[in-house]
Amino acid sequence: MHIGPYHLANRLILAPMAGVTDLPYRRLCRRFGASLAVSEMSSSNPALRHHRQTLLKSAYQGEPEPRSAQILGTDPAHMADAARFGVERGAQIIDINMGCPAKKVCSKAAGSALLRDERRVGEILDAVVAAVDVPVTLKIRTGWDPDHKNAVAVARIAEAAGVSALSLHGRTRACGFSGPVEYHTIRDVKQAVRIPVIANGDIDSPAKARAVLDFTAADALMIGRAALGRPWLFREIETFLNDSHLPSEPTSQEFLAVIREHLLDLYAFYGECLGVLIARKHVGWYFGHRSGWNAGERGREFNAQTDAQEQMDFLAELD
Ligand SMILES: Cc1cc2nc3c(=O)[nH]c(=O)nc-3n(C[C@H](O)[C@H](O)[C@H](O)COP(=O)(O)O)c2cc1C
Repeated sequence: MHIGPYHLANRLILAPMAGVTDLPYRRLCRRFGASLAVSEMSSSNPALRHHRQTLLKSAYQGEPEPRSAQILGTDPAHMADAARFGVERGAQIIDINMGCPAKKVCSKAAGSALLRDERRVGEILDAVVAAVDVPVTLKIRTGWDPDHKNAVAVARIAEAAGVSALSLHGRTRACGFSGPVEYHTIRDVKQAVRIPVIANGDIDSPAKARAVLDFTAADALMIGRAALGRPWLFREIETFLNDSHLPSEPTSQEFLAVIREHLLDLYAFYGECLGVLIARKHVGWYFGHRSGWNAGERGREFNAQTDAQEQMDFLAELD
């Protein structure tokens, strides 16, 4: 699988997730075998460009190549500027978000709302592809709602604009995050274009990964929610795809060591105050995956710890 000049080491990609795929989490998932990890979306609004939050989202220190930055917006010129800014900050791939269903995003005709305006889709893609000399990728849904599915048309627009790969979440905007994923639409898109197609939606186990690859013939898989609190999922899927063998779950010691490593990275990246708060969210996800762990109770106890040392001591007691 190639994106422009970049050869990906395998076919497993961490999906962009706002509030999740920050630099610490991307580095962790890359270490566990994701061959690409897309950043959280950054608004293309020039007024927000130098805000601390935008700068944190476009930090890439220590992240292996290739580094992909996702941008969001409706104005082709602003999107072009945002892409140039991302590249200046170290991004090697620019990913355009036309899949986000959030109301506050769609009410500004951004994210998945753009799928209703194919002309604007083309204008944005043309502007961004012309603005940077790194590969540009696009992430979409299958359409606005079940009566307006246009993924194949948008994929052809993307190919004609010079987009290097297309990720497709197999649901319409109206379908949100639940209900069946239209893997058949992903298969149709794969057959319609020659650029790499990345299948996304509800891929949550090695067996599902194999089934989606076989059914859609997609070039790669993008995994989001199933990787929350479970970065080793990439390693599990990769092992299974290579030799049909399922590696055992991490031992308790490995499990706690990964959480500690993740938390230390969060404190270093955000500073202790914010890092401690963000740690709670991830630890809730981690604990939720451990069977027989009484995750709710342990999670509440963890959330009562108020600084980095207390959080680390709490984890040490579980060891
Ligand atoms: C918390 C959360 C945040 C997300 N943020 C983004 C985002 O910033 N950009 C984007 O393109 N998609 C975003 N998504 C959508 C995911 O990238 C992905 O398309 C979707 O979750 C379906 O994949 P999954 O079933 O593997 O989770 C987000 C999803 C979640 C759950």
